[in-house]
Amino acid sequence: MSETLTADEVQTLLDDAAAAIEEIAGAGADRLEELRVQWLGRKAGRLAQALRALGSLPADERGAVGSRLNACKQDLTAALEARHSALARGATAATADVDWTMPGRSRWRGARHPVTRVVNEICDIFREIGFTRVVGPEAETEEYNFTKLNIPLDHPAADMHDTFYLSPGVVLRTHTSPMQARTMERFPPPIRIVVPGQAYRRDPFDASHAPVFEQIEGLVVDEGVSFVDFKAGIDYFVHRFFSSDTAVRFRPSYFPFTEPSAEVDVQCQICGGSGEACSTCKGTGWMEIMGAGMVHPAVFENCGIDPERYTGYAFGMGPHRIAQVRYGLPDIRLLFGNDMRFLDQFVGSR
Ligand code: PHE
Repeated sequence: MSETLTADEVQTLLDDAAAAIEEIAGAGADRLEELRVQWLGRKAGRLAQALRALGSLPADERGAVGSRLNACKQDLTAALEARHSALARGATAATADVDWTMPGRSRWRGARHPVTRVVNEICDIFREIGFTRVVGPEAETEEYNFTKLNIPLDHPAADMHDTFYLSPGVVLRTHTSPMQARTMERFPPPIRIVVPGQAYRRDPFDASHAPVFEQIEGLVVDEGVSFVDFKAGIDYFVHRFFSSDTAVRFRPSYFPFTEPSAEVDVQCQICGGSGEACSTCKGTGWMEIMGAGMVHPAVFENCGIDPERYTGYAFGMGPHRIAQVRYGLPDIRLLFGNDMRFLDQFVGSR
């Protein structure tokens, strides 16, 4: 700016100053210093120059222009100071006015599906006591799904399974039990495995059935494994998974591949076992969680293991059903729906 001043120049200066004040509000430390020198520098600063040139104005305008320039100087000084202390508090260049009291924005975090949690937890409990986690094919032959497990194809038990056929002789496995046979054929005892995986049945999709569902198979084969080991193993699991005071009951049952066979119930986790007005256990106080039993000698023979020397136990449980029991879900279809309003409730829980 020259040493003379016109009314137009004063207006330009004030407009530029207003723009500078806006820039100051978001400036970083280096730019802030540049702006300070540019505007408030004692010699070459634009305000200093303008104030020096006041004398070139007609006497009757000097007072008014002078006070506008002084007001502008004060505004610039205040803006520079405010920004300076904001930067000292740690504000970033882009956020001039941070409301430190505003609640943080919570970021959506992925979470494991409740059934996956249940599967992992169950397998971990067994892994701690020496079981290996193995997996097997979902497309199975009739031989592994049925005959090796002592289920003749014309046996009613084969019908019971309501099988999906992929092609003649090949099925979608109706349970994870085929992995009992596959493991016994490949590995000599002692065997301790858990087998998580999907199984398929032509069941209606309703509140307690699904045509595809998770199972966890368990198998123990060794010399001298007795019914006491079987009961103790299951009790141990239930007390670890549910709680140490959860009651367990073994009901006599029938599976072609175990003898004797049992269905295992646990005290209803929702009503505590009273059954009173409880829709989860349908008033019985108990929830079935697995089928189990001592491995049938015919299965050992089918898989090349000497039934005179070895005994064992097996179990098959349903993690969907167990998740339903644990979380008190009225309908198993909630576990298949992938409704975020339902799944979100499990974020952060175990
Ligand atoms: N495979 C049986 C079922 O699907 C469960 C089971 C497994 C029973 C192992 C006994 C032993 O119902």
